[in-house]
Amino acid sequence: MAILVTGGAGFIGGNFVLDWIGHNDELLINLDKLTYAGNLQTLESIAHHQHHHFVQGDIGDTALVSRILLEHKPRAVINFAAESHVDRSIHGPGAFIETNVVGTFRLLESVRAYWLECTEEERNRFRFLHVSTDEVYGSLGPNDPAFREDHPYQPNSPYSASKAASDHLVRAWFHTYGFPVLTTNCSNNYGPYHFPEKLIPLVILHALEGKDLPVYGDGQQVRDWLYVKDHCSALRRVLEAGRIGETYNIGGWNEQANLEVVRMICGLLDELKPRSDGKSYADQIRFVRDRPGHDRRYAIDARKLEQELGWRPAETFASGLRKTVSWYLDHTDWVQGVSSGSYRQWLTSQYHA
Ligand code: NAD
Ligand code: TYD
Repeated sequence: MAILVTGGAGFIGGNFVLDWIGHNDELLINLDKLTYAGNLQTLESIAHHQHHHFVQGDIGDTALVSRILLEHKPRAVINFAAESHVDRSIHGPGAFIETNVVGTFRLLESVRAYWLECTEEERNRFRFLHVSTDEVYGSLGPNDPAFREDHPYQPNSPYSASKAASDHLVRAWFHTYGFPVLTTNCSNNYGPYHFPEKLIPLVILHALEGKDLPVYGDGQQVRDWLYVKDHCSALRRVLEAGRIGETYNIGGWNEQANLEVVRMICGLLDELKPRSDGKSYADQIRFVRDRPGHDRRYAIDARKLEQELGWRPAETFASGLRKTVSWYLDHTDWVQGVSSGSYRQWLTSQYHA
């Protein structure tokens, strides 16, 4: 038995792969293009693990994907591969359309062709789990109820529009072809191995380097934060027991304004690694120009997942954020690799040696 994971050298995919290898004896094929966001240093501990097989490649490469599928005959595909940073999507949306829309389409077609050739038993068992985001639902007002699975799609950034398009393709492949899909829409993740262009790792590392902590606009935008390991446990549960064709929202019941998140990180750092001048890291906070089209509030209603599949997050924001700050303080090698860009050479030294 095997599963195919795409984008498994990124932040969430990497955490998922590490957790999966720790929980299962099944072969995991990890297909990742290794864009700037793919980092094999994250997977260092399983680089030579017998159940982890890494392949560098693009989800849109039909010949490569078909070869992998025929060789390993996976019982499931979990699609994490994507361009994922909103700010990058504003500056250069092309790559988002290419991977998130065209790439997902090509992946669906490669996997569907493989699925059609499977035996009836294999076809019935097979699942395609598409990992998506709450950002497809658009922005909420302060008193609006949290996003449920039937909330209208109203994406506002090139990133969320490209993810929305991919969700629609996945949905259509189920309704049109009977292809056995599952879709999850998750809120903002945080935790180990998070690339430091995103708010939480950026603030931790800028604080330690004595740099400004940039807060966009008034800092009152609200995000619903989930510890990445909780996202991974939810995905394992959906893969195991989710109903085909269904969408499941994943969230931590944990809305926070950005400024409050930044202040909490500063408080943890003041305690765990105080500044040498005795001042608070909060002195480094700076309000900067807002992101264009910045969504004001996201919030996930995760009751369907809880009621149907019995999933609940294990971490609170306080416990997860403390773990995250401690992780960054304890993993200076990983941080150094990312900051210097040396992780880009990791592939050559570790895998092509
Ligand atoms: P990430 O940017 O850290 O990782 C993406 C990975 O995909 C990288 O390893 C990259 O090399 C790989 N990749 C990119 N294009 C590829 C291609 N064409 N073919 C193969 N691999 C490719 O992203 P992440 O934060 O780990 O997010 C993973 C998924 O989860 C994405 O689909 C994202 O939309 C979704 N998601 C993210 C969050 C979040 O808070 N980060 C929340 C909800 C959903
Ligand atoms: P981000 O981590 O980029 O995730 P997303 O845009 O997918 O929600 O940003 C989280 C929030 O933090 C978002 O409202 C933008 C804000 N933000 C800042 O205020 N300063 C920053 O330097 C960054 C990167 C984000």
